[in-house]
Amino acid sequence: MLSCLLCFQLSSIAQAPAIIPNPVEMKAGKTTDNFTIANHSTQVFISDSSLRPSAEFFINFIKKHYLLDLTLTTVVDANRKNVINLIREDPSQESLVKALITKQNPTQVVGLAKSALIIEKNTSKNPEKYMLDVLSQSVAIRSASPAGVFYGIQTLIQLLPPSAKPVPLQAKAVSITDYPRFAYRGMHLDVSRHFFDVNFVKKYIDYLAMHKLNYFHWHLTDDHGWRIEIKKHPRLTTVGAWRDGSIIGLYPGKGNDKIRHGGYYTQTEVKEVIKYAADRYITIIPEIEMPGHSMAVLAAYPELSTTPKLSKKVAETWGIFNKFNNVLLPSEQTFNFLEEVLTEVMALFPSPYIHIGGDECSKIWWKQSAFSQQLIKEKGLKDENGLQSYFIHRIEKFVNSKGKTIIGWDEILDGGLAPNAIVMSWRGEKGGIAAAKQKHKVIMTPENFMYFNHSQFLKDDSLTAARFLPLADVYNYEPVPAVLTPAEARYIWGAQGNLWTEYITNPAKVEYMLFPRLDALSEVLWSPKSKRNFPAFQERLKQQLRRYDFMGIRYSRRYVL
Ligand code: ACM
Repeated sequence: MLSCLLCFQLSSIAQAPAIIPNPVEMKAGKTTDNFTIANHSTQVFISDSSLRPSAEFFINFIKKHYLLDLTLTTVVDANRKNVINLIREDPSQESLVKALITKQNPTQVVGLAKSALIIEKNTSKNPEKYMLDVLSQSVAIRSASPAGVFYGIQTLIQLLPPSAKPVPLQAKAVSITDYPRFAYRGMHLDVSRHFFDVNFVKKYIDYLAMHKLNYFHWHLTDDHGWRIEIKKHPRLTTVGAWRDGSIIGLYPGKGNDKIRHGGYYTQTEVKEVIKYAADRYITIIPEIEMPGHSMAVLAAYPELSTTPKLSKKVAETWGIFNKFNNVLLPSEQTFNFLEEVLTEVMALFPSPYIHIGGDECSKIWWKQSAFSQQLIKEKGLKDENGLQSYFIHRIEKFVNSKGKTIIGWDEILDGGLAPNAIVMSWRGEKGGIAAAKQKHKVIMTPENFMYFNHSQFLKDDSLTAARFLPLADVYNYEPVPAVLTPAEARYIWGAQGNLWTEYITNPAKVEYMLFPRLDALSEVLWSPKSKRNFPAFQERLKQQLRRYDFMGIRYSRRYVL
């Protein structure tokens, strides 16, 4: 009898749910207090209209994956049962929250719901913070910001079973307080080396949202294709968006496939993607590469190169640095052209940040260019690095004049950093450390830890960039270098994973390379450093991989062990 009672008690106490990224604080409730989501009966209440995108996201998710219809309501009703309350929290709403939660869960107010009654007095410290309480009669997600409520929704989704079978559909009883460690949580996608259509880009944005990332770095231009419509310069897409072939196999390759490859996003499509991301609290940072990586530009407009008389093609081979001229001439004509391009880009993207590239600019083309050498003399610059710095300073001034800030790869440190630039440190952490010491914001994205185009295994079944980046190395990456003082460390804004697509030709391969390393990245960026533990993460990952199976997301299956 006694043992049976114990049995019952044990079975009613749930294991902590597997949530990725791991929340800051979580208390699991009893399984008997799980919340049931019922067709045509469960309602989603929003306390103000700013929460509508979050509510609609959740309702659409439940419809798509569990085939249940939920309804949205804006009417306050403390007597309502079976409701998911999304609440934009401020102290003036304290009585509303109390009324909703105590009335909706009268038997639970001294238990799990207790934390739900503590209203945040000072919510300004971390606006992305949210509280999630799942009780038997209602769910409450509260945050000072719509983004916080959205993150609460992402967590709630992970409290549901990764299968459509269980009836009734239940969310596990839990009480969570959660907020991110870093303000910049980014992921990049190169759409130049291979083009991915709008539908897939939206899917990719959903993946970032699911992992509570908040910046999507859209690598829109490079040697191998220009991917955004610019109305004033149509040849960028009629010519620059297409190449006549790609090398076969690992660089330097075994021949050329001679298959025409390309595509671009119209400005209408770009706006659609920006709105889609904004509804998921993701800012899109467009990257327009300069002064190097510009072969697609020069194929369209050879007069902007140091060798204007030589005709040029959109690049068909990878790693072209010194072999083909892909560098912009620092002429007034080029600066006018770039200002016109950036004007259209800045009008489209609400992002306060514009990425201007700046990486891998081969200086040999400026060395051989009489105009460039004359400019170095005229401006009193030290050398070609000085010229690169002059180039970036001019562009920064223009971007700043429109109220926006530039981000550049760490080569923008060469010859002197532009005054307000943010540095993306990719050649290790050296550039990031130097920039932080100069009091510039830094995004860490060192190649050895954050380049997801590298293989996940020593021997991969498919063609990947030649280096090796296993899941554990991503998971254990620490974005704040130990050499920085606490004051300097504050300039580490966050980190970002990069996905370069030379060897990633289709959406399935993007997913294969991304998952589950994106899960590891999300814990680096979101979860408290003190809670990071690779074996415990691997345990939680099992449930996440089942969820990917359920949602039709592809991942590297060697992790299903
Ligand atoms: C880079 O990988 N060239 C930023």
